[in-house]
Amino acid sequence: MNGLIENPKYEKIIEDLLNQQYSVVDDFFTDEEVSGLRNSLLNKYEEEDFKKSAIGDQFNEQVIKSIRGDFISWIDESQLNETENGFFLKMDDFTNYLNRTCFLGIQDREFHYALYPIGTFYKRHLDIFQNDDSRKLSVVCYLNDENWLPEYGGELVIYKEQDEIKIYPMKGRVVVFESQILEHEVLPVKRERLSITGWLKTRKL
Ligand code: OGA
Ligand code: MN
Repeated sequence: MNGLIENPKYEKIIEDLLNQQYSVVDDFFTDEEVSGLRNSLLNKYEEEDFKKSAIGDQFNEQVIKSIRGDFISWIDESQLNETENGFFLKMDDFTNYLNRTCFLGIQDREFHYALYPIGTFYKRHLDIFQNDDSRKLSVVCYLNDENWLPEYGGELVIYKEQDEIKIYPMKGRVVVFESQILEHEVLPVKRERLSITGWLKTRKL
Protein backbone atom coordinates (compact mmCIF):
# COMPACT_ATOMS: atom_id res chain seq x y z
CA MET A 1 0.00 0.00 0.00
CA ASN A 2 1.20 3.45 -0.79
CA GLY A 3 -0.93 5.17 1.82
CA LEU A 4 -3.59 6.30 -0.64
CA ILE A 5 -7.15 5.14 -0.24
CA GLU A 6 -8.14 2.19 -2.41
CA ASN A 7 -11.06 2.65 -4.76
CA PRO A 8 -13.03 -0.63 -4.75
CA LYS A 9 -14.66 0.09 -8.11
CA TYR A 10 -11.33 0.64 -9.82
CA GLU A 11 -9.76 -2.31 -8.00
CA LYS A 12 -12.48 -4.59 -9.40
CA ILE A 13 -11.78 -3.36 -12.94
CA ILE A 14 -8.03 -3.86 -12.49
CA GLU A 15 -8.53 -7.35 -11.09
CA ASP A 16 -10.83 -8.25 -14.02
CA LEU A 17 -8.33 -6.87 -16.54
CA LEU A 18 -5.54 -8.95 -14.99
CA ASN A 19 -7.67 -12.09 -14.93
CA GLN A 20 -9.60 -11.89 -18.19
CA GLN A 21 -8.43 -8.78 -20.10
CA TYR A 22 -11.87 -7.17 -19.86
CA SER A 23 -14.25 -5.78 -17.28
CA VAL A 24 -17.94 -4.89 -17.28
CA VAL A 25 -19.16 -2.29 -14.79
CA ASP A 26 -22.73 -1.09 -14.46
CA ASP A 27 -22.25 1.73 -11.95
CA PHE A 28 -19.25 3.64 -13.24
CA PHE A 29 -21.37 6.71 -14.01
CA THR A 30 -24.53 7.97 -12.32
CA ASP A 31 -27.89 7.84 -14.14
CA GLU A 32 -27.73 11.60 -14.39
CA GLU A 33 -24.31 11.52 -16.04
CA VAL A 34 -25.41 8.87 -18.50
CA SER A 35 -28.58 10.76 -19.43
CA GLY A 36 -26.53 13.93 -19.87
CA LEU A 37 -24.11 12.18 -22.20
CA ARG A 38 -26.99 10.61 -24.11
CA ASN A 39 -28.53 14.05 -24.63
CA SER A 40 -25.19 15.49 -25.71
CA LEU A 41 -24.85 12.74 -28.30
CA LEU A 42 -28.39 13.26 -29.59
CA ASN A 43 -27.87 17.03 -29.83
CA LYS A 44 -24.70 16.54 -31.82
CA TYR A 45 -26.46 14.08 -34.08
CA GLU A 46 -29.24 16.59 -34.73
CA GLU A 47 -26.64 19.21 -35.59
CA GLU A 48 -25.30 16.67 -38.09
CA ASP A 49 -21.97 16.59 -36.39
CA PHE A 50 -21.58 12.89 -37.12
CA LYS A 51 -19.58 11.29 -39.90
CA LYS A 52 -19.52 7.85 -41.32
CA SER A 53 -16.93 5.88 -39.43
CA ALA A 54 -14.45 6.18 -42.29
CA ILE A 55 -14.28 8.29 -45.39
CA GLY A 56 -12.91 7.43 -48.78
CA ASP A 57 -13.95 7.12 -52.37
CA GLN A 58 -17.09 5.21 -53.28
CA PHE A 59 -15.28 1.92 -53.65
CA ASN A 60 -13.60 2.35 -50.30
CA GLU A 61 -16.85 3.30 -48.72
CA GLN A 62 -18.42 0.03 -49.82
CA VAL A 63 -15.54 -1.89 -48.29
CA ILE A 64 -15.79 0.06 -45.07
CA LYS A 65 -19.53 -0.42 -44.90
CA SER A 66 -19.08 -4.15 -45.06
CA ILE A 67 -16.82 -3.91 -41.99
CA ARG A 68 -18.51 -1.24 -39.90
CA GLY A 69 -21.61 0.88 -40.29
CA ASP A 70 -21.57 3.20 -37.31
CA PHE A 71 -21.50 6.99 -37.39
CA ILE A 72 -19.04 8.76 -35.13
CA SER A 73 -18.33 12.22 -33.77
CA TRP A 74 -14.91 12.81 -32.21
CA ILE A 75 -15.00 14.78 -28.98
CA ASP A 76 -12.87 17.91 -28.82
CA GLU A 77 -11.74 18.31 -25.23
CA SER A 78 -11.31 22.05 -25.65
CA GLN A 79 -15.05 22.41 -26.27
CA LEU A 80 -16.81 20.34 -23.64
CA ASN A 81 -20.21 20.96 -22.12
CA GLU A 82 -20.66 20.43 -18.38
CA THR A 83 -21.64 16.76 -18.63
CA GLU A 84 -18.76 15.94 -20.93
CA ASN A 85 -16.41 17.77 -18.61
CA GLY A 86 -17.62 15.55 -15.77
CA PHE A 87 -17.04 12.48 -17.94
CA PHE A 88 -13.43 13.46 -18.61
CA LEU A 89 -12.79 14.35 -14.96
CA LYS A 90 -13.83 10.81 -14.08
CA MET A 91 -11.57 9.47 -16.82
CA ASP A 92 -8.71 11.56 -15.36
CA ASP A 93 -9.35 10.04 -11.96
CA PHE A 94 -9.51 6.49 -13.33
CA THR A 95 -6.39 7.01 -15.46
CA ASN A 96 -4.40 8.47 -12.58
CA TYR A 97 -5.38 5.49 -10.47
CA LEU A 98 -4.30 3.03 -13.18
CA ASN A 99 -0.99 4.81 -13.65
CA ARG A 100 -0.34 4.97 -9.92
CA THR A 101 -1.28 1.40 -9.06
CA CYS A 102 -0.44 -0.50 -12.25
CA PHE A 103 2.19 1.71 -13.89
CA LEU A 104 0.24 1.60 -17.12
CA GLY A 105 1.80 4.81 -18.40
CA ILE A 106 -1.38 6.22 -19.92
CA GLN A 107 -0.54 9.65 -21.32
CA ASP A 108 -3.24 10.40 -23.81
CA ARG A 109 -6.75 9.49 -24.87
CA GLU A 110 -9.27 9.93 -27.65
CA PHE A 111 -13.02 9.55 -27.42
CA HIS A 112 -15.92 9.70 -29.83
CA TYR A 113 -19.65 9.30 -29.73
CA ALA A 114 -20.93 6.44 -31.85
CA LEU A 115 -24.35 5.77 -33.29
CA TYR A 116 -25.20 2.52 -35.02
CA PRO A 117 -28.26 2.95 -37.26
CA ILE A 118 -30.60 -0.02 -37.59
CA GLY A 119 -29.00 -2.85 -39.57
CA THR A 120 -25.40 -1.83 -38.91
CA PHE A 121 -22.62 -3.74 -37.14
CA TYR A 122 -18.86 -3.79 -36.66
CA LYS A 123 -17.15 -6.99 -37.74
CA ARG A 124 -14.59 -8.82 -35.62
CA HIS A 125 -11.47 -6.69 -35.14
CA LEU A 126 -8.71 -5.48 -32.83
CA ASP A 127 -8.47 -1.81 -31.86
CA ILE A 128 -5.07 -1.27 -33.46
CA PHE A 129 -4.35 0.89 -36.45
CA GLN A 130 -1.68 0.87 -39.11
CA ASN A 131 1.54 1.75 -37.33
CA ASP A 132 -0.04 2.98 -34.15
CA ASP A 133 0.10 0.67 -31.16
CA SER A 134 -0.54 3.37 -28.57
CA ARG A 135 -4.08 2.27 -27.75
CA LYS A 136 -3.86 0.35 -24.51
CA LEU A 137 -7.38 0.17 -23.09
CA SER A 138 -10.69 0.49 -24.93
CA VAL A 139 -13.50 2.04 -22.92
CA VAL A 140 -17.12 1.94 -24.07
CA CYS A 141 -20.07 3.42 -22.21
CA TYR A 142 -23.51 2.65 -23.63
CA LEU A 143 -25.95 5.52 -23.91
CA ASN A 144 -29.10 3.62 -24.89
CA ASP A 145 -32.35 4.25 -23.09
CA GLU A 146 -33.53 2.02 -20.25
CA ASN A 147 -35.30 -0.63 -22.20
CA TRP A 148 -32.73 -2.28 -24.42
CA LEU A 149 -34.17 -5.75 -25.10
CA PRO A 150 -32.29 -8.87 -26.20
CA GLU A 151 -34.17 -8.86 -29.50
CA TYR A 152 -32.56 -5.54 -30.41
CA GLY A 153 -29.24 -7.36 -30.87
CA GLY A 154 -26.17 -5.13 -30.89
CA GLU A 155 -24.24 -7.28 -28.45
CA LEU A 156 -20.55 -6.64 -28.04
CA VAL A 157 -18.93 -10.03 -28.53
CA ILE A 158 -15.51 -10.47 -26.98
CA TYR A 159 -13.51 -13.38 -28.33
CA LYS A 160 -11.38 -15.25 -25.86
CA GLU A 161 -9.38 -18.35 -26.71
CA GLN A 162 -12.09 -20.73 -25.57
CA ASP A 163 -15.01 -18.43 -25.16
CA GLU A 164 -17.24 -15.86 -26.76
CA ILE A 165 -18.60 -13.39 -24.27
CA LYS A 166 -21.73 -11.49 -25.28
CA ILE A 167 -22.38 -8.19 -23.58
CA TYR A 168 -25.63 -6.30 -24.08
CA PRO A 169 -25.38 -2.52 -24.45
CA MET A 170 -27.43 -1.68 -21.38
CA LYS A 171 -27.81 1.96 -20.43
CA GLY A 172 -24.78 3.21 -18.50
CA ARG A 173 -22.87 -0.06 -18.77
CA VAL A 174 -19.12 0.46 -19.13
CA VAL A 175 -16.86 -2.12 -20.76
CA VAL A 176 -13.08 -1.78 -20.48
CA PHE A 177 -10.79 -4.13 -22.37
CA GLU A 178 -7.26 -4.59 -23.65
CA SER A 179 -7.32 -2.93 -27.07
CA GLN A 180 -4.51 -4.95 -28.63
CA ILE A 181 -5.26 -8.34 -27.15
CA LEU A 182 -8.99 -9.00 -27.40
CA GLU A 183 -10.71 -9.36 -30.74
CA HIS A 184 -14.28 -8.19 -30.60
CA GLU A 185 -17.35 -7.48 -32.72
CA VAL A 186 -20.64 -5.60 -32.59
CA LEU A 187 -23.52 -7.76 -33.82
CA PRO A 188 -26.15 -6.21 -36.12
CA VAL A 189 -28.47 -3.82 -34.35
CA LYS A 190 -32.24 -3.76 -34.73
CA ARG A 191 -32.54 -0.48 -32.90
CA GLU A 192 -30.38 2.62 -32.93
CA ARG A 193 -27.45 1.93 -30.60
CA LEU A 194 -25.63 4.77 -28.86
CA SER A 195 -22.32 4.94 -27.02
CA ILE A 196 -19.35 7.01 -26.06
CA THR A 197 -16.23 5.07 -26.95
CA GLY A 198 -12.56 5.78 -26.54
CA TRP A 199 -9.05 4.67 -25.93
CA LEU A 200 -6.54 5.28 -23.17
CA LYS A 201 -3.18 5.53 -24.90
CA THR A 202 0.40 5.03 -23.85
CA ARG A 203 1.79 8.03 -25.65
CA LYS A 204 0.89 11.13 -27.52
CA LEU A 205 1.08 11.03 -31.28
C1 OGA B 1 -15.14 0.12 -31.53
C2 OGA B 1 -15.87 -0.98 -30.87
C3 OGA B 1 -17.60 -1.74 -29.35
C4 OGA B 1 -18.99 -1.39 -28.91
O1 OGA B 1 -15.70 1.23 -31.66
O2 OGA B 1 -13.98 -0.09 -31.93
O3 OGA B 1 -15.41 -2.08 -30.97
O4 OGA B 1 -19.57 -2.20 -28.14
N1 OGA B 1 -17.00 -0.73 -30.15
O5 OGA B 1 -19.51 -0.36 -29.31
MN1 MN C 1 -13.30 -2.01 -31.41
